Amino acid sequence: MTDILTLDLDSFAPTVARDVQDAAIRTIEDGGVVVLPKATFALSAAEQRFLSPTWSDGHAKNVSLDGRRLKGARGGGRDLAELAGVVERFATAAAGLVAALFPRYAPYEKRARTSFRPQPAVGRAVSWRKDDSRLHVDAFPSRPTHGDRILRVFSNVNPAEPRVWRVGESFEAMARRFLPRIRAPLPGSAVVLAALHVTKGLRSEYDHLMLGLHDCAKADLTYQREAEQQTVAFAPGTTWLCFSDQVLHAAMRGQYMFEQTIHLPLSALYAPERAPLAILERLLGHALVLA
Ligand code: SIN
Ligand code: FE
Repeated sequence: MTDILTLDLDSFAPTVARDVQDAAIRTIEDGGVVVLPKATFALSAAEQRFLSPTWSDGHAKNVSLDGRRLKGARGGGRDLAELAGVVERFATAAAGLVAALFPRYAPYEKRARTSFRPQPAVGRAVSWRKDDSRLHVDAFPSRPTHGDRILRVFSNVNPAEPRVWRVGESFEAMARRFLPRIRAPLPGSAVVLAALHVTKGLRSEYDHLMLGLHDCAKADLTYQREAEQQTVAFAPGTTWLCFSDQVLHAAMRGQYMFEQTIHLPLSALYAPERAPLAILERLLGHALVLA
């Protein structure tokens, strides 16, 4: 069962007592969610105007900042420059929060995409594979991680509505259930996918398995209905963090959220032996990435 740890910290640059830090580390590296109801990402009165779906371009699911460029947004030049500034501010705040809670991660934090999600979490017609209202662990077809972690910081900036997730059973329980269903990749396919730039670099056996677990969980409607799970509501103003490659999660409701993705090498972790790579290697009895 996913562990939920709620902390009293009320800023993105908190002073964190040692025992609180230890609890946060244990929770997140064991596949739990750390929730900070009082760490609110504040928008100024003028910035509140961005709480509207009209800022999204209608094609992309999210407005996102990858490096300097704002993608998926629509609007006037000055508005979009201001929105990019807000997204950038969230990125900086999120990185600071991670460093305060998990000091060991700080020198390793590799900032990836920052997103603002002005569309409702559910309601768009999407294929089952893209349906994030089904329990899943994150794994991205185009971006092999070779065991590196996907750490995410989320903030619900909706003043009136919670963001609601379901979270599921442990990573290991899910992996034991679905590993036998994953077919081996076609021989040579990793090289072909990389050559065609479908993937950024080679897809390791680990990445193949993580995609398989993502797909198997989403495709199994009985699992979706009957697997051990609980509903968690993130109230307005709440910030939360988890390793989304480890926590079974599903977005059920909500609108207006910021999200920061941070990649961490395994060597950044306090307990790499509890990471998905180590769990899968233990279950299968062989190495899943090249040394
Ligand atoms: C996801 O990461 O699967 C969706 C999270 C959300 O939209 O709340
Ligand atoms: Fe996800």
